[in-house]
Amino acid sequence: MTQIAFIGGGNMASSIIGGLIKQGDVKASRIQVSDPGAEQRNKLAASFGVGTHEDNLAAISNADVVILSVKPQVMKDVLEPLAATLKARQPLLISIAAGISMESLAKWSGCKAIVRCMPNTPALLGLGATGLFASAAVDIDQRNQADSLLRAVGMTVWVKTEAEIDAVTAVSGSGPAYYFLLMEAMIDAGKKLGLSAETATKLTLQTALGAAEMALKSDVDPAELRRRVTSPGGTTERAIATFEAAHMRDIVDAALKAARDRGAELSKLLGD
Ligand SMILES: NC(=O)c1ccc[n+]([C@@H]2O[C@H](COP(=O)([O-])OP(=O)(O)OC[C@H]3O[C@@H](n4cnc5c(N)ncnc54)[C@H](OP(=O)(O)O)[C@@H]3O)[C@@H](O)[C@H]2O)c1
Repeated sequence: MTQIAFIGGGNMASSIIGGLIKQGDVKASRIQVSDPGAEQRNKLAASFGVGTHEDNLAAISNADVVILSVKPQVMKDVLEPLAATLKARQPLLISIAAGISMESLAKWSGCKAIVRCMPNTPALLGLGATGLFASAAVDIDQRNQADSLLRAVGMTVWVKTEAEIDAVTAVSGSGPAYYFLLMEAMIDAGKKLGLSAETATKLTLQTALGAAEMALKSDVDPAELRRRVTSPGGTTERAIATFEAAHMRDIVDAALKAARDRGAELSKLLGD
């Protein structure tokens, strides 16, 4: 009968709670949420039947798992007043905050078993991709607990080193924006070719969805899927050759490295 506490009841926490309750894995009576906003607390209580608190300490008093779902900027101020209780109870601490290192989480909370997660925005629709990293003190049951909590909002992958969380941030954390950029560019290009904005948008979005579904369901990798739809001398081949001539792969490589490096920089800044 694991007791779960969420510190911060905003978008991400609401999505995870909604997912857990929909799946039927966790009873609402086992979930406590703290948030400073009365309106937000009322919404959570009315939508999901969870216990809500203005005071963070009240939310964690019986918790076996504490999920930190506040913005990274307030994490230190949130954790330090809870440290004495957390140190004594030693719950599993799960942080979904971007850029807060294990070292900072351990220093501010006094907890030993910590899981650091990097979800992404489609988690709000249950279609997220989350990378997780566990500290050495996390046992197999706690790992499974963390995994099932984040699976409520999409798929999960575990990484072996904390540095890989910065790579996860670069690939999937920031990833939705890359696809939105490509969609923007394709819609603009479609309009220049004479399509209405509505037609260009509909075709672009459905094509993105169809391509993602095909890649997910296929037993071959995206490179092979691309080869299969690229007939020699055809239209797709001409477009792909144009992308390659403009060094698209180098651009993607540089963009992801820049995101990875910024993630590491932010961890340092937020940890100070
Ligand atoms: N949304 C995403 O797609 C996404 C993706 C990856 C990672 N994340 C991470 O998930 C975390 C939460 O993001 P979010 O989008 O859910 O943010 P959000 O909607 O702003 O939720 C944060 C909640 O925490 C509350 N809060 C502020 N100070 C607090 C305190 N001292 N104690 C308790 N609660 C407090 C906020 O209340 P007020 O609004 O009244 O301040 C707000 O309701 C962030 O760390 C973010 O980096 C989010």
